[in-house]
Amino acid sequence: MPTFAVVAHTLSPTNARLGTVLSPAQAAARLRPGDVALGRLDVLRSLDGIEPGAWALDLLAERGVTVLNGHSTLATAHDKLATANALRRAGLPSPETVAVAPWLLPPQLEPPFVLKPRFGSWGRDVLRCEIWAAFDEAVEAMSHRIWFNTTGGVVQRLIPPAGHDLRVVVAGGRVVGAVNRVSAPGEWRTNVALGARRIPTSPSREAAELAVAAAAAVGGDLVGVDLLPCDGRWTVLEVNGAVDFTGVYSSEDKIFASVRAALALPDSEPAIAGYAYA
Ligand SMILES: Nc1ncnc2c1ncn2[C@@H]1O[C@H](COP(=O)(O)OP(=O)(O)O)[C@@H](O)[C@H]1O
Ligand SMILES: [Mg+2]
Repeated sequence: MPTFAVVAHTLSPTNARLGTVLSPAQAAARLRPGDVALGRLDVLRSLDGIEPGAWALDLLAERGVTVLNGHSTLATAHDKLATANALRRAGLPSPETVAVAPWLLPPQLEPPFVLKPRFGSWGRDVLRCEIWAAFDEAVEAMSHRIWFNTTGGVVQRLIPPAGHDLRVVVAGGRVVGAVNRVSAPGEWRTNVALGARRIPTSPSREAAELAVAAAAAVGGDLVGVDLLPCDGRWTVLEVNGAVDFTGVYSSEDKIFASVRAALALPDSEPAIAGYAYA
């Protein structure tokens, strides 16, 4: 009977509720052809890349394991420059995004814009630059960050912050849940890690179609698509490859069941205790 496992480094609440969590090496040792693996490698806390283990996802795929959110999906979704390119190629609305790094010339984009890590998360080191002087200050402030000196970051056109956005979870090409994220008082960024509140919502048809298209643009089997309101429409800000969610994303706490159904996950899990290092 085929089994299902989450390939990750942490037993986060989302990972634990999705299924048995195996480290990349454990997954490589234990999964067999016909099994299903869901790649949940996240960005590194130092924001200079992706957690190790893409090798295991490649090896599993070669072996005949069905790999969801595989190497190339995670590489595209976690890298904001690669995501921007994929969204542009797919013809989806998203803010203009260019690379920025100590070894590059200043970005060919006029402020206001946002400077942030290529492999960012949790709203960390996401800096708003209204004028060039603010960009110079931001570069100075980031000059000792590992990410700025290794992967570099991106500069992205600022979409006038509205104090809220829409996070849509897409699984297997279907919307399985959504919340409005409302920024904390005095905070322009809408990250829950920065105090934003999550309010369950039912996305409009336009938002749902855009989120599904954005997920497809990165080849995402289970992703969180962030949409920002812009001139009365939605624009895609980013696609989260290791999205965290809870029961509030759907009525009656049914999002985890919806994910299993949308991805046609096998009911059984590996007959071994999962182990992950925190
Ligand atoms: N170009 C932008 N225009 C408007 N708001 C932005 C922009 N970039 C980031 N933000 C705000 O900052 C938050 C964090 O940025 P994001 O790119 O999603 O990075 P992270 O991966 O850290 O969540 C977003 O949820 C949004 O509220
Ligand atoms: Mg984000």
